[in-house]
Amino acid sequence: MALEILDGPVLAKRTTLGLGGTALAEIRAGRHDDLEGLAEALDRVGGRPLALGGGSNLLAADGELDVAVVTLARGDEPEIVAGAAHGLVRVRVFGGCGLQRLVAWCAKRGLAGLGGLVGIPGTVGGAVAGNAGSFGRDMAGVTAGVWAFTPQKGIGFFGPGEFSTGYRHFALANVEGFFMISQVLLDLEAATLESVLAEGKNALERKRATQPITAATAGCVFKNPEGQSAGRLLDLAGFRGRRLGGMEFSAMHANFLVNRGGGTSEQAFALIEAARQAVFSMFGTKLELEVRVAT
Ligand code: EPU
Repeated sequence: MALEILDGPVLAKRTTLGLGGTALAEIRAGRHDDLEGLAEALDRVGGRPLALGGGSNLLAADGELDVAVVTLARGDEPEIVAGAAHGLVRVRVFGGCGLQRLVAWCAKRGLAGLGGLVGIPGTVGGAVAGNAGSFGRDMAGVTAGVWAFTPQKGIGFFGPGEFSTGYRHFALANVEGFFMISQVLLDLEAATLESVLAEGKNALERKRATQPITAATAGCVFKNPEGQSAGRLLDLAGFRGRRLGGMEFSAMHANFLVNRGGGTSEQAFALIEAARQAVFSMFGTKLELEVRVAT
């Protein structure tokens, strides 16, 4: 197998927000080893590299983007491998695997640790790279190591101490800029099938009740400032349900930007800026974006 290079992907079709113009090319890897050819492919395509998982945390600009999109195929099933500490089960999973495919695979085997992440779209690689989380669980809590491509070193393994994590944050030691996670090692707890299913069901019910999970969104737009809720601040500032063209801050949860159809990134950026300014002038709080922006 080798890398595939496809012409000009339209990001509006590749992101859950349904926004974004045309990139230079898509470089697609079917397997972990394929990424060995990525440095050369990136040179050939030119532009800035952009790691794209499920496109569920990405706000891409309209128009022509000087960007080479790097993607992974969905890959094989996760597999159990040796090496976990006593009482834990180690799983190796391809970065292109859908997060919910992994969550379901774990649930079937009574492997706990990802239950709170039920209902979060995207790929495993993207979820690790953004440290996706919900209801007290996050990817960092179970990640034991990653294989990643970096332009400096090609494919390398990063074990404990070689990556750092925080609230919606993940970084590889001594790596700045682009990286692409190709495989992940997760350490999960052996639990009962019932307890894993119950945690997942609970998370999904809470999500359904508080978040617009069927709308075209990229999850929460802003990070929660320390000790505060961005959604609450936006709501108090009058942004819940605020519209501009086809874009709207959800009437259900003010920290979700929704594309109601026909929205543009220009409208999304204008709403974001207006919200930031309003929250700053009312509360003195500077909201930071949680979604990644590609321009
Ligand atoms: N609230 C309002 N108005 C709103 C929205 C929220 O008053 O329009 C209030 C709620 O009533 C609640 C508080 O704000 O009292 C917090 O809201 P919520 O419980 O919905 O959680 P959140 O802080 O907004 C965070 C994460 C979510 C995650 C949930 C559950 C961030 C930015 N958001 O939301 O993550 O699913 O907790 O754990 O960290 C994401 O990262 O994309 C995301 C959606």
